[in-house]
Amino acid sequence: MASVLKFPSFKFLNPNPISPTSASVQVGFRRFSCSAPSSAAVEGDSSIGSVSLGHLTRPDFPILHQEVNGSKLVYLDNAATSQKPTAVLKALQNYYEAYNSNVHRGIHFLSAKATDEYESARRKVAAFINASEPGEIIFTRNATEAINLVAYSWGLSNLKPEDEIVLTVAEHHSAIVPWQLVAQKTGAILKFVNLTEDEVPDVEKLKEMISRKTKLLVVHHISNVLASALPIYDIVHWAHAVGAKVLVDACQSVPHMAVDVQRLDADFLVASSHKMCGPTGIGFLYGKSDLLFAMPPFLGGGEMISDVFLDHSTFAEPPSRFEAGTPAIGEAIGLGAAIDYLSAIGMQKIHDYEVDLANYLYESLRSVPGVHVYGPAPSQTVFRAALCSFNVENIHPTDIATFLDQQHGVAIRSGHHCAQPLHRHLGVSASARASLHFYNTKEDVDAFIHALVDTINFFSSFK
Ligand SMILES: Cc1ncc(COP(=O)(O)O)c(C=O)c1O
Repeated sequence: MASVLKFPSFKFLNPNPISPTSASVQVGFRRFSCSAPSSAAVEGDSSIGSVSLGHLTRPDFPILHQEVNGSKLVYLDNAATSQKPTAVLKALQNYYEAYNSNVHRGIHFLSAKATDEYESARRKVAAFINASEPGEIIFTRNATEAINLVAYSWGLSNLKPEDEIVLTVAEHHSAIVPWQLVAQKTGAILKFVNLTEDEVPDVEKLKEMISRKTKLLVVHHISNVLASALPIYDIVHWAHAVGAKVLVDACQSVPHMAVDVQRLDADFLVASSHKMCGPTGIGFLYGKSDLLFAMPPFLGGGEMISDVFLDHSTFAEPPSRFEAGTPAIGEAIGLGAAIDYLSAIGMQKIHDYEVDLANYLYESLRSVPGVHVYGPAPSQTVFRAALCSFNVENIHPTDIATFLDQQHGVAIRSGHHCAQPLHRHLGVSASARASLHFYNTKEDVDAFIHALVDTINFFSSFK
């Protein structure tokens, strides 16, 4: 069990950002020294020649090349949302400049072109996660809406009183709350798997929890707080043995590694475009074709019908059945461009590079005294994604994030990361989180660690 950290009542609430040149701020190390290894000293650097993937791809992301609060921006909030390469920005601009039009219902040139590009984006998503056919991809607003779609469509028509839905305490609120609402309506019961002492969801307990009463498992692929991965292939196998379905929340895996829905045999899988270098406002649901065909509509309106009469309507086949109204056309096309961009690099290359970065981040953070990093220690056999949620003894995570931003231009996140049950389980109300993507470098990690040590020194000087 993680140690319970007590936070002081003191809060860093300075309304005037401290200028980096302010004499009141001692930049440098007072009590702590930063013993993070230098990039050059680390073995297994996943680089191409002498240049890392991060260095190679950074020029593609215009936003990264700016100063924030007088310092070079170091963006380490990628688990919240990723940055967008020029190729995606251009695809969006090109859509609005050259062929902005509504899809599926026009016969004119612009509408035909927009429809082609929109449906091409669906094919790209399908190929990216190896769905059997594009019709298994439903465009939604984001992963949250995709989960709600399954909850209200599949859930309301398949769940009855006493049916069980198995989840872990580490799920994102988006994967918990829709099922709470549907459980209230159907009488189904939610069962939660706790963590082991290593701060990973207890997979053995999860296996034991699955029974003939289980109708659905809702599990993350990679935790947005713990950085741990669940063995989805095995979980799906156990679930199918009792006739249960599995919904995989792949928000933190699809942007960072190759995900193959056919190999995993997942019934449903969701992800958000904005975490995978695409625009906000679009995400997707993958569903096995037979399941989607059997599901009733989620939202009613234009585009999702076959025929409308005054007293009833008949519905289109999936995917249209679940895409009511004008969709996010430019955003879907932007997501397609993001997939082209990621695929050109190669998801295996991205994954290999990020594993190396993940270990570097973890070891660097652990070398700072007073820091507790949540989740498993990475090893040859234990995977850790390239993010670390952590707390520093006696300093509130929001103070850390604020100081890092205002004094050093380092963007990290603080709070509960939409995982309050998990934080309660860890014995804290909040944590700080640094999360990386393939365009980050070890220099970014070094800059963060130096800034964190300075932050700790600053707050410790008040004691
Ligand atoms: C694991 C996980 N699931 C679900 C979500 C929800 O994604 P969105 O807000 O894009 O719907 C997130 C976003 O932070 C996440 O990290």
